[in-house]
Amino acid sequence: MNALNRFWHPLTTSDKVVEQPRRFTLLDDYVVAYRDADGVAAFRDLCIHRGAALSLGWVRDGKLVCPYHGWQYDRSGACVRIPSRPADAPIPPSAKAFRYHVQERYGLVWVAIADPQYGVPDFPGDIFDLPEWKSFMSYNEVWTTSASRAVENFMDFSHFPYVHEGLLGTEDNAEIAPYTVEKREDGLHYWLEQEEPSDLYGADGTQLVRYEYTLVVPFTIHLKKIELGTGRETFITQFTSPQTATTTELFVYIVRNHSHDEPDSKFGDFTNKIMEQDRVIVQSQRPENLPASLREELHIKVPDAASLLYRQRLAALASVEVDGPYGA
Ligand code: FES
Ligand SMILES: [Fe+2]
Repeated sequence: MNALNRFWHPLTTSDKVVEQPRRFTLLDDYVVAYRDADGVAAFRDLCIHRGAALSLGWVRDGKLVCPYHGWQYDRSGACVRIPSRPADAPIPPSAKAFRYHVQERYGLVWVAIADPQYGVPDFPGDIFDLPEWKSFMSYNEVWTTSASRAVENFMDFSHFPYVHEGLLGTEDNAEIAPYTVEKREDGLHYWLEQEEPSDLYGADGTQLVRYEYTLVVPFTIHLKKIELGTGRETFITQFTSPQTATTTELFVYIVRNHSHDEPDSKFGDFTNKIMEQDRVIVQSQRPENLPASLREELHIKVPDAASLLYRQRLAALASVEVDGPYGA
């Protein structure tokens, strides 16, 4: 089984999961999700009887009803009624919908297909719900690339002078100084300082900024920016939904401990412009998925240190075999 099944992935934004079952895409398969008084339920979008899409069905009395022959599934996934059989006829125990783990966090619906190994990724310092921090989702788009390419791009800073010239870097300052990458159980952590020529700092503003990256495998990346002049701190966090090998939904949050009175758009417009600059390059990358072998692309010693470790982590994950349809 795909080791990615054992992680929580963002499926969609909470507002898109409603009473009527809807179809979503995750890890190259379809998911049906709906909301009732007990919260969100999510299943593989497939009826075990004849393979019809449960997302074409409806919810009645807390049961998800298949649109084809009307089998009814409860929230645990058990089939509790087969209308073409007498009401008291036994129901085969294998008559089940594939129920997925589901929870809501940060205004997103998260799904784990098999028993999850870790929780939904936290923000470093658990700052998300603290009153000193103001958060909003700035960017939400589907890119035609893999989740791993989209994450690796976010991790990468040696492209700033080229893709984000004048915003995050300048061509005369392209050299990357050695930096340390700390390996963690759930990911990687690395940091560096650089002059940022951002127009966020005024017409001729530049700032010395400390960038602290925290990668949580497989597809969450936090960038904490600390403006060393002012001490202001801003997280830019990308949660990444691996829909298919070549389509990926990005949810980018900005969380700041300053400027609460200023409009979110002041920060969002800047970040979204950066994201759209990235999108052009990332959607051009081939293959869309990271190559299976590290030898297929060329890694440069200092600037690619973090991305090389990321690829190694993903490769290690891919080599782990996990049991059964629901994990061990
Ligand atoms: S395919 Fe779902 S009830 Fe027959
Ligand atoms: Fe970028």
